[in-house]
Amino acid sequence: MSPQEPSAPPAVWNSLEGLAYGGDYNPEQWPADTRMEDLELMKEAGVTFLSVGIFSWALLEPSEGEYDFAWLDEVMDNLAGAGIKVALATATAAPPAWLVRKHPEILPVTADGTVLGPGSRRHYTPSSAVYRRYATGITRVLAERYKDHPALALWHVDNELGCHVSEFYGDEDAAAFRRWLEGRYGTIEALNASWGTAFWSQHYASFEEILPPAVAPSTLNPGQQLDFQRFNSWALMDYYRSLLGVLREVTPGVPATTNLMVSSATKSMDYFDWAKDLDVIANDHYLVAADPERHIELAFSADLTRGVAGGDPWILMEHSTSAVNWQPRNQPKMPGEMLRNSLAHVARGADAVMFFQWRQSFAGSEKFHSAMVPHGGRETRVWREVVELGASLQRIGQVRGSLVEARVAIVFDYEAWWASELDSHPSEDVKYLDLLRAFHRSLFLRGISTDFVHPSASLEGYDLVLVCTLYSVTDAAAANIASAAQAGATVLVSYFSGIVDEQDHIRLGGYPGAFRDLLGISVEEFHPLLAGGTVKLSDGGAGSVWSEHVHVSGAAVGEASGAAVEASGGGASAEVLATFTEYPLDGVPALTRRSVGAGSALYLATFPDRNGIEALVDRLLAESGVSAVAVADPGVELTRRRTADGASFVFAINHSRADATVRVAGRELLTGKPFTGTVPASGVAVIAED
Ligand code: GLA
Repeated sequence: MSPQEPSAPPAVWNSLEGLAYGGDYNPEQWPADTRMEDLELMKEAGVTFLSVGIFSWALLEPSEGEYDFAWLDEVMDNLAGAGIKVALATATAAPPAWLVRKHPEILPVTADGTVLGPGSRRHYTPSSAVYRRYATGITRVLAERYKDHPALALWHVDNELGCHVSEFYGDEDAAAFRRWLEGRYGTIEALNASWGTAFWSQHYASFEEILPPAVAPSTLNPGQQLDFQRFNSWALMDYYRSLLGVLREVTPGVPATTNLMVSSATKSMDYFDWAKDLDVIANDHYLVAADPERHIELAFSADLTRGVAGGDPWILMEHSTSAVNWQPRNQPKMPGEMLRNSLAHVARGADAVMFFQWRQSFAGSEKFHSAMVPHGGRETRVWREVVELGASLQRIGQVRGSLVEARVAIVFDYEAWWASELDSHPSEDVKYLDLLRAFHRSLFLRGISTDFVHPSASLEGYDLVLVCTLYSVTDAAAANIASAAQAGATVLVSYFSGIVDEQDHIRLGGYPGAFRDLLGISVEEFHPLLAGGTVKLSDGGAGSVWSEHVHVSGAAVGEASGAAVEASGGGASAEVLATFTEYPLDGVPALTRRSVGAGSALYLATFPDRNGIEALVDRLLAESGVSAVAVADPGVELTRRRTADGASFVFAINHSRADATVRVAGRELLTGKPFTGTVPASGVAVIAED
């Protein structure tokens, strides 16, 4: 919203009690008697919050300008009567058949020119003016109709923007891309300079000549590719804003959001940027059943969601009670896993727990996707666990509004993710998330919480800051990271960080240009390893993926080994902590450390093996003074949430199949009894600390 528009609506939390509980509710798939039974079952489960109408457009407006609200009126009234609040959808995530028939130009086009047709969902391009006209139209009709409805607590704008398709190559998208570029660069010469179009005769004489980077004989211009990623993220957000504008106009007092897909699998949207226009962060998260460490991926995604939320409480808008239907083999959740998953999200900052979906469909392509009410009804394990979860959330309601404590920050940037994985790079094995997740995993297993922080956001209060594969970085962000070290933090920077600026232009004079002075090192040449290759290190470990020719600043080639050498520009010397020990890099630094102000800056020039990561994390924790939430047996996930007035809650989630000891004193809220010090096998304890 622009600054002159009215202030933000009240927080959604004002209209919700305790930890909200529920899911997507699709009553239009069911007859009236089932809808009545739903109300009974919702009461039994303790449901308080539902997303309604996400895929309802074709039923709400069966032909252009003709509406049928009878069923939705009934549902809204009944939910209000039952004391259940609604996140009402704009119904725009699947255009009706009449609209596609009349305006096939709204359909999305892929890089190879394929038009994606109807019959599924999300078959529109966000830059279509026609689609926006119709989408804002139905949004206005819904907003006018339900603006004073007592059930309405939140607007659920569209659904999972960027799901299925997140890059748009049609003619209208190309025109929107050109307008966006003109807004960004002002002049074509500024664009030429930024994209480096002196290369390969790529110079443009006017914006009209520019196309999306679709398919070409060889690698496409990196600046063009990067801007196209930025544009697509922006276009989806701009579409969101077009609907938000209507909602703000008609219902200024009702908050709005859209459900994000923050996880290790979603790269296309810059959610830190998106967060500015959401009144509350809502996220959907699904486990990959085949991943034995799926609970760690969950923790990563939940921590990243909290980062996107700026540390504030957020809504888990969707997850699954058991199996999904879209993986190659859809395994159910193990007994108790759904409760552990749900409370793990709460442990990491969620104040609402919701599912896709309330009642398992009997028809359609999601009929084998689990739900809160399974095909088998009440006599099922899933239903019993749904009821148990509802009761559990009520028992721990007092954690609502508390914030997760963390002294470790991992710097996270979607732009660096995009830029670091562009083509024509030194190694296709450098994946943005890999090292960052290796550190997050190690910290998770030690019961240490991590915040994900955008490179431009304050790093104040963090004792340990990890900067992994931050390939592109602005001057301001590099200065922000350096000042964290000055202020006393231990800062670790990895290989392939600080290489380019935001235009993907190399920072010249020796890598990593953005961090050379901070680290007191300079890299002369990259030596990426061959597929599956490793390189031995002087500490007895090995590295993979990457090695490089590092010089400690001030030392001539070949002098770096072992000795501490004065860093350029004065200040403390950079010390070599480990070297490569193999030809042609034997003796070349692989890990360095330099004292900086009240803190330090370490540089890591390879991807250490598991033991190497653990040894490095030991060192970083010892130096920064960061320790676990509590002493506990292995296999226990730990976090602490604290309220503004100092009350604190420890979440202890036992992922092992044996009872586990946790040294925390207080009252265990799920049982209502003093905590015995034991978390049962596969169970959870939430302890209000003494
Ligand atoms: C997404 C969608 C839902 C549903 C689930 C299934 O999260 O938002 O409508 O399709 O996936 O897992």
